[in-house]
Amino acid sequence: MNPPSPDRYAVAGNPVAHSRSPHIHQLFARQTGQTMDYGRLLCPLDGFVAEVQAFAASGAKGCNVTVPFKFEAFELAARRTPRAELAQAANTLRFDAEADGGWLADNTDGVGLVRDITVHAGVALAGRRVLLLGAGGAAAGVLGPLIEARPAEIVMANRTVDKAQAIVDRHAAWAALHGVALKARGLSEAGSAHDVFINGTAASLAGGGVPVGPEVLQPGGLAVDMMYGPAARPFLAWAQAHGAIARDGLGMLVEQAAESFALWRGVRPDTAPVLAQLRAEVDATS
Ligand code: ATR
Repeated sequence: MNPPSPDRYAVAGNPVAHSRSPHIHQLFARQTGQTMDYGRLLCPLDGFVAEVQAFAASGAKGCNVTVPFKFEAFELAARRTPRAELAQAANTLRFDAEADGGWLADNTDGVGLVRDITVHAGVALAGRRVLLLGAGGAAAGVLGPLIEARPAEIVMANRTVDKAQAIVDRHAAWAALHGVALKARGLSEAGSAHDVFINGTAASLAGGGVPVGPEVLQPGGLAVDMMYGPAARPFLAWAQAHGAIARDGLGMLVEQAAESFALWRGVRPDTAPVLAQLRAEVDATS
């Protein structure tokens, strides 16, 4: 008798050629003894839904979703986790049968960021002052879990303050529930000496540098960019030059993947060795 074919997953996006998710999930599968295939699903910009539906119809079990389809993925699912509801975006779909309630959408980005900060960087968030820069999909996607970590205060600062205000309003009840003072600000009112500064914008990539002054940092405080590799370099150099502990988004990438893996497989991989391996690979190639 032939062995059963492995359960199939993929990362859906445009572009996806450079995604490290297949490699990360392969490492998780090997470590935990799970039999699965994880590939790439390049979706036309106007064809995400059809592509993912065809993938599911072929017997696949789920997918990760990356830019620019996280909002469509959220809309597509029959059920959504509370953290996906807060983000209004999903990076993980599990293709559950209709009899089991239908497709489930989750967003594991925020919990990935929080675990990277608290576990890998070893920095507690509870009771601290946090600055979250940006109000695009990346920043909105992490705010709910950041609140859950119970910092004393989170300032969401953005060039377009109305966008930050709308996201803050959506999270107001969640923040009150967790005793977090949550505020929306413009870039010029980002404040100073935050314990943790998280960059959720692509501003430094655009060549304009980090769009707030170094006074937002705390000497010895943590400054995290959600990007990694060459894209994170300008931010990391800036943060280091101003006395902060600089951290890129590689740990967040591995942790969000681990959370998706646990949702699909019911097994939680040990992320530390996978992050160490990824770190060595990224350092060697960038
Ligand atoms: P993503 O999904 O990566 O978050 P996005 O939704 O386009 O991408 O959001 C980009 C974020 O970077 C926004 O917060 C944007 O600010 P605006 O909302 O004001 O547009 C921010 N951003 C991009 N370029 C910037 C720049 N040069 N200076 C300041 N902020 C910038």
